[in-house]
Amino acid sequence: MKEGFNTRAVQSGEFRDEKVGNVTTPIFETSTFYNPNYTPNAYSDHTRNKPFMYTRWGNPTLEALEKKYASLDEVEEALSFSTGMGAITSTVLSLVKKGDRLISVKELYGETFIFFTRFLSSMGIEVHLAKLDDLNTGVIDLKEFSGIYTESIVNPTLGVCDVGLLGKRAEEEGIPLIVDATFASPFNQNPSKLGAAFTLHSGTKYIGGHSDILLGLAGFERSSMEAVWAKRRLLGASPDPIQAYLGLRGLKTLGLRMKAHNENGMEVARFLSEHRKVEKVFYPGLDTSPYYSIARKNLKGFGGMVSFELVGGLDAAKKMSKKLKIFSYAPSLGGVESLFTLPAETSHSNLTPEERKESGISDGLVRMSVGIEDNEDLVEDLKAALE
Ligand SMILES: Cc1ncc(COP(=O)(O)O)c(C=O)c1O
Repeated sequence: MKEGFNTRAVQSGEFRDEKVGNVTTPIFETSTFYNPNYTPNAYSDHTRNKPFMYTRWGNPTLEALEKKYASLDEVEEALSFSTGMGAITSTVLSLVKKGDRLISVKELYGETFIFFTRFLSSMGIEVHLAKLDDLNTGVIDLKEFSGIYTESIVNPTLGVCDVGLLGKRAEEEGIPLIVDATFASPFNQNPSKLGAAFTLHSGTKYIGGHSDILLGLAGFERSSMEAVWAKRRLLGASPDPIQAYLGLRGLKTLGLRMKAHNENGMEVARFLSEHRKVEKVFYPGLDTSPYYSIARKNLKGFGGMVSFELVGGLDAAKKMSKKLKIFSYAPSLGGVESLFTLPAETSHSNLTPEERKESGISDGLVRMSVGIEDNEDLVEDLKAALE
């Protein structure tokens, strides 16, 4: 029988050496290893099944993180990266060549949007952007594409992708489905179980969990290791062992933290949806959300991201933001502390007003990353700020 999520989170992947007797994985702060290593039964680097040689290629601390993540996201193999963008660019570049056409959800994380529309297009690779709702209805013909890219929950309007449906369609077409599941985390969704060939994470967010590292992860079948590893090596996108260690440590409490994020996200969303000064709440766990049934099919929990608009738009949002005491104004997400941002001023400020409108981002939209503080305190903070 497979062990539970929290047992695997704590126990799996750790580099334990019985001759030392260490309980936790050490930080192997070394850039290089003896080469050739003639030691009989030398430990081998899982990226190439040979002794470790150079940390950009592989390192035991990175490997412990990769194995623990693989166990939690139920993928055969995984690699860690310096950032989420390192994971996204290395993985996608391992799959495409000049002349290829990909299809992707349009409501993308801003930097991924730039990678697809500026960088890949300049290399002769076309990325066709489709609206999330059109991908979810299954009406788009996928015949002419060599891969599908999506995000589990899109930013900042929190629409949910029907990853299960896309997984089936990708299988029928014989093309890979690539899913950035950063907002869901491996606790709320395992895209590989829904038909994704590649799962990507900004480990900077829920996986690290403490807003103190930059990290990326990619999970896939064993047969893809060589190609993704080659790109990580070439682009120099490996994390350093200290970041990898902090990611490994973060994963141990992911299940406990996500339970709190899921509960607090729901409490905050419910409170906001009943407040007279709130115009609209975006949260897939509310049964009034147009994504509620897709979310129930594809996610084990609805997460800690909640967006909303106030009566009075941007002015009201700015006024409220100055009064919040527990929620801090900062653009990242997924840490233990509650944060909020106005996407029109930060993450999506480079879009034209028309582009923002098309993506459903009004100037007054507030996006919150609800932390693991006591939910009564979070609600009280919002209540006081709204009054
Ligand atoms: C959904 C999503 N994917 C990828 C990234 C990029 O991650 P990183 O900042 O670790 O490169 C982010 C960052 O905010 C994100 O929100």
